Amino acid sequence: MKCLSGPSGMGHPQYAGIVSPYLKWVGAKTRSMPALLAALPSPEHVECLIEPFAGSASVFLNTRYRQYVLGDSNPDLVSTWRHARDNPGELITALRRLYREGNSERAWHENRAAFNRMKDCTEKAALFIYLNRHGFNGVCRYNKKGIFNVPFGRPVRPYLPEREIMIFARKAARCYVSFFHAGFEETLSAATTGLFAALRCGIYCDPPYLPLSDTSAFTQYDGQVFTPAHHQRLVTRLQEIHQQTGAPVVISAGDTPLSRQLYQAFNLSAQHVNRSVSADGRARVAVRELTGTLY
Ligand SMILES: C[S@@+](CC[C@H](N)C(=O)[O-])C[C@H]1O[C@@H](n2cnc3c(N)ncnc32)[C@H](O)[C@@H]1O
Repeated sequence: MKCLSGPSGMGHPQYAGIVSPYLKWVGAKTRSMPALLAALPSPEHVECLIEPFAGSASVFLNTRYRQYVLGDSNPDLVSTWRHARDNPGELITALRRLYREGNSERAWHENRAAFNRMKDCTEKAALFIYLNRHGFNGVCRYNKKGIFNVPFGRPVRPYLPEREIMIFARKAARCYVSFFHAGFEETLSAATTGLFAALRCGIYCDPPYLPLSDTSAFTQYDGQVFTPAHHQRLVTRLQEIHQQTGAPVVISAGDTPLSRQLYQAFNLSAQHVNRSVSADGRARVAVRELTGTLY
């Protein structure tokens, strides 16, 4: 096993400065990008990247494939991608209005209640970004009824990610990108059926990390827990697709004994990444991450 500790992706043809996403997202790959770029297939060999756990879309923003299939099971997240691509100006105008008077406990509770009442629209997508930037440590959490229930984060100077929204919109205009609000199995089916199956596809999977220890909780993004059994189903499906189509597959996982066992069929390398490991924003430590490849 090779330990990648330096910026080994710097020489990769896709590397051109790391772009940050408009959301703060637990597990976002911005800090891991150099090592990840070294593992991902070259855009010369792969036309389309399928990413079933796309989260903040940091991999989409920092790679140069001609086509993308981005999926995620969080409907509010996927809605922000759609609005950032289709109406970035309207989204930014709504955000500016929310930021003007939004940095107080009272405004937070009113805006959070409005978000929980609203159906999908640009205003709701703007509220999701506002909540992400004003909430506790960028956490995204819902109760069992699907109500977003993160507490106010008391940000000193909340950042309005206008520039990042425009970068996302420009990137989406430069390539063909399809968004799936779907579980990973449905998004992965694009590799074997339909229009995308005719292309040379690569797959990148960044599923929710298993807890670092028995006492730390599973990471939740949409009220659902991603258990070891889900990881096992993912591994089985990725191996089937790889055998059937030859598609190169890359995965990320926390470096734990259980991850190493679950992903043993992959060629694994480890690297250190600074990240927050819990809902406590102060708990920011260098953790080891695994990158796995099936080529
Ligand atoms: C580790 S994060 C991905 C981070 C992403 N690579 C980034 O750079 O922001 C995992 C993502 O998986 C999504 N997710 C959780 N369960 C899922 C499922 N069953 N199918 C698809 N997506 C799921 C979560 O909403 C979350 O965005």
